[in-house]
Amino acid sequence: MAGLVIANWKMHGSTAAVAEFVDQWNRLPPLGHVDTVICPPYPYLAAVADAMTGMVLGAQNCAEADQGAFTGEVSADMLADWGCRYVLVGHSERRSLYGEGDAQVAIKARRVTAAGIKAVVCVGETLDNRESGGHEAVVGRQLQASLAEVPAAELVVAYEPVWAIGTGRVATPEQADGMHAVIRAHLHEQYGDAGNDVPIVYGGSVKPENAAELFQCPNIDGALVGGASLDAGSFWQIASAMGAGRA
Ligand code: 13P
Repeated sequence: MAGLVIANWKMHGSTAAVAEFVDQWNRLPPLGHVDTVICPPYPYLAAVADAMTGMVLGAQNCAEADQGAFTGEVSADMLADWGCRYVLVGHSERRSLYGEGDAQVAIKARRVTAAGIKAVVCVGETLDNRESGGHEAVVGRQLQASLAEVPAAELVVAYEPVWAIGTGRVATPEQADGMHAVIRAHLHEQYGDAGNDVPIVYGGSVKPENAAELFQCPNIDGALVGGASLDAGSFWQIASAMGAGRA
């Protein structure tokens, strides 16, 4: 499979920042052997969609409901209608700051795939979980609870250890690859051979400086990039490292 590198801008950006990013991105050489997805905040989806070449549009979240009186919410169907092809669900910031649990993540993932687009289901352990040795069990439980009724063909799993997000403390290639192998085994158990084709991407302080080493790991199919995705050149370098690994 081609690599998959996803930009999660979180709540960053402005009209000027989008214009600058797009201008820089569109001047960079086209990439091979890697698919790139950009998830800007909702108000900038249109500007990015209109101006950007070679990138697929994604969103950072969606509603649990499909439509109705849910002020402030945006449904998966609306995002698909808008041209999004991926939606992040269960990001650790949604889980820890907004109290989203596995049951909500499961509903959102179902909504996204029912809309005919891909759910990027985010899982990952806290530092306490890892230090107590419970990290594999935690991630296993998150997968078990989140993936019911989500078809393998519409699924991406993002492994984002909470302790590596925005901290500059990247998981070692061995830590990341080891957990990806655990996730792959889970996917194979749930989906059979179709589970082997589900991309598993790593997120947590991915930068141009550490991307190549991570992407050499056999079980890492790409990255979910936060801070470094705000700069077109840095994001391009990360995606390029992925493409080089898959050439
Ligand atoms: P950072 O790359 O800023 O650590 O963020 C990772 C992340 O949460 C992407 O979803």
